[in-house]
Amino acid sequence: MIAITGANGQLGRLVIQSLQRIAAGERIIAAVRSPAKAQDLKSAIVEIREADYDRPETLAKAFTGVDKLLLISANDLVSRWAQHKAAIDAAKAAGVKQIVYTSILHTDTSALVLTEDHRTTEAYIKASGVPYVFLRNGWYTENETAALAAVLSNGAFIGSSADGRISFAARADYAEAAARVLTSDGHAGAIYELAGDEAVTMAEFAGEAARLTGKPIAYVNLPQADYAGALLGAGLPPPLANMLADSSAKSATGGLFDDSRVLSRLIGRPTTPVRDTLAAALKAHAVAA
Ligand SMILES: NC(=O)c1ccc[n+]([C@@H]2O[C@H](COP(=O)([O-])OP(=O)(O)OC[C@H]3O[C@@H](n4cnc5c(N)ncnc54)[C@H](OP(=O)(O)O)[C@@H]3O)[C@@H](O)[C@H]2O)c1
Repeated sequence: MIAITGANGQLGRLVIQSLQRIAAGERIIAAVRSPAKAQDLKSAIVEIREADYDRPETLAKAFTGVDKLLLISANDLVSRWAQHKAAIDAAKAAGVKQIVYTSILHTDTSALVLTEDHRTTEAYIKASGVPYVFLRNGWYTENETAALAAVLSNGAFIGSSADGRISFAARADYAEAAARVLTSDGHAGAIYELAGDEAVTMAEFAGEAARLTGKPIAYVNLPQADYAGALLGAGLPPPLANMLADSSAKSATGGLFDDSRVLSRLIGRPTTPVRDTLAAALKAHAVAA
């Protein structure tokens, strides 16, 4: 039996979709904070269980009978280490045989502030004695397309990455890799650095958006503090704004670059081109507008 935490999130839902395609005969537990919001995930092979990182009693129940657990890192930048610890403790107590954890690219050597919780979590999983796989996910292309409405109205992407190359891949690529790892053997102890085949600067990213829309879209590079200020001004909470500005600034010196192509090898196809993710986001934006 395979369980996925955070299964109601954007990555979790894509993992479930991939598992529905490739995990014939498996039982899948969508472990979610709010079962009421996840009812559409239910299927012949998918069962919904409540699993709230902040309520350990729900985790103990949710992980009963589970062989492999995909622990999707939490999105609360302030308290997520404690949340991960609760999930790992519950998995160990329930006798889970393997924890597959979505970490971040180059966790052990990276200077990104974002990596701190992931480093602590990886170390705790290793110390738990439960066999593990670390999926060190690189940057989602969708992190940039999320701001598309503002980009289109301002005619610019903003950031602090200067000429740094970022190895973008689509969320669906990382989800597919997780599904492949969950449904095949031989991964115990593996640490996969996952990133897109294509590494582009944000100026090139903006250029692609300009070509797709036929409108002038530039990339404006800002000092880190100014970029953080712009994100705060746009309403992002301070921990998220500061983390994004730190990650962007450090990508200027290769903090989000990786050319190992492990991700495309794991999923057996090239990663999704930036152009395709941008085109899909533009289409969704046009439909919503
Ligand atoms: N590599 C990258 O570029 C990148 C970018 C963004 C995020 N990430 C990381 O990857 C993770 C997955 O990404 P995503 O895009 O799927 O994020 P997401 O859409 O924000 O999903 C996060 C999920 O976590 C769930 N959650 C929040 N608090 C919880 C709690 N106390 N107990 C149980 N579940 C809880 C949320 O549940 P509800 O549905 O109930 O709110 C949501 O379903 C993020 O959480 C973050 O750690 C990576």
